[in-house]
Amino acid sequence: MGNLFRKKSIETMLDQSKAHALKRSLGALDLTFLGIGAIIGTGIFVLTGIVAAQSAGPALVISFILSGIACALAALCYAEFSSSVPIAGSVYTYTYATIGEFFAFLIGWDLMLEYLLAVSSVATGWSAYFQSLLSGFGVNIPKILSSSPGSGHGGIIDLPAVLIILFITMLLSRGVQGSARFNNIMVIIKLIVILGFIVTGIGYVKPDNWHPFMPFGFHGVVTGAATVFFAYLGFDAVATASEEVKKPQKNVPIGIIASLGICTILYIVVSGILTGIVPYTKLNVSDPVSFALKFINHDKMAGLISFGALAGITTVLLVMAYGQVRITFSMSRDGLLPKSFSTVHPKFKTPFVNTWITGIIAAVIAGFVDLTTLAHLVNIGTLAAFTLISIAVIIMRKTHPNLKRSFKVPLVPILPIISALCCVYLMLNLPAITWKAFVIWLVIGIIVYFLYARKHSHLNHSKTANHTINDSELNKR
Ligand code: ALA
Repeated sequence: MGNLFRKKSIETMLDQSKAHALKRSLGALDLTFLGIGAIIGTGIFVLTGIVAAQSAGPALVISFILSGIACALAALCYAEFSSSVPIAGSVYTYTYATIGEFFAFLIGWDLMLEYLLAVSSVATGWSAYFQSLLSGFGVNIPKILSSSPGSGHGGIIDLPAVLIILFITMLLSRGVQGSARFNNIMVIIKLIVILGFIVTGIGYVKPDNWHPFMPFGFHGVVTGAATVFFAYLGFDAVATASEEVKKPQKNVPIGIIASLGICTILYIVVSGILTGIVPYTKLNVSDPVSFALKFINHDKMAGLISFGALAGITTVLLVMAYGQVRITFSMSRDGLLPKSFSTVHPKFKTPFVNTWITGIIAAVIAGFVDLTTLAHLVNIGTLAAFTLISIAVIIMRKTHPNLKRSFKVPLVPILPIISALCCVYLMLNLPAITWKAFVIWLVIGIIVYFLYARKHSHLNHSKTANHTINDSELNKR
């Protein structure tokens, strides 16, 4: 049983990361953009309207604040870890160093739920936006080729969703620097359209629309918070990039906190204006932001918003796919997944094969499975990861008190405990079906661990298994 808790020394991880060297090309600004690229997307452009109309009403702002608090606390924990363990793989890696192999594997497995399904479901949202933009120009893709079999539209494949994922996969497989440049341009476009919405909309806000403020009670607001949590998801992807960052101890915490802070402010402002312009009862649409502008007769601006939304959702896809690849990359490097997931392409210096395997699986899921209800599954997977990282911060402070940390969570253990409780509270507000699916996924993970990962783990041959990490050894890095 002790084997389940065997830990990997961070020194070994650093050696390995040198052997499988990824190119260090990203700075703090790139990372902040990477974070914003991952965060602002389907959540604000699609989910806000549905949540306002169905659960939160004008108190959508409060839903955003509540889940923003949960994310901010988790972000601090992420920042502390990434400032002390700057290795690809994010929370998976941190868990491996602190709690042990079995939980690390499970969390890596859990993160696939977050990133892989996020890629697929966000691509489905991209496809819907793309189609509505095309139809604005009078072009209609036949439903049979543009919706998945389960969507109830008589489709056999959602081809736009498949193609956008393959396009993103191609970009990622050819090198992160090019992808970062693409990401930065797209992020600027989406920030411009969001600011455009704010500037255009603010003059049309009618405070009357904010009454009643909580039409579905506080319970509705919390249910809304558990759903709009999806909108924040992605800042953690910044931590998965640690190995490709210059001065990661400093830049990764900046990237995480800056991107989350900027997005939180934008979300609160946008949701306040949205529900101030349009009565919440009318917001049950899949393009609420441009809908609101049409509502106040700014049709041209609405078109631009649709374009920006498309750009925004594209970058979410890019970063989520990137994060997924880095997680399986790290797991494979430890022997917990087959070796092909960590082979680095000699020319592009990227995990080429892994990127394509990930892209193809995500594309197949997006093409054939209707994933709207699975957004909740993405949320539960992420919240579980956030809970674990909060606990891991407390453990790491006890086990490695002298480890150099460029960034420290204040008020440990109080803040990490509050962070874990907030995440569990939001999880409890997700539907029962989501919990069932989550448990099934974890059970499959446990089976894979015992049938494959445990036997192939590099710790089987490593003298460093169960090696206690020596702080001064680490600080030498
Ligand atoms: N936060 C991302 C989005 O809203 C997942 O699309």
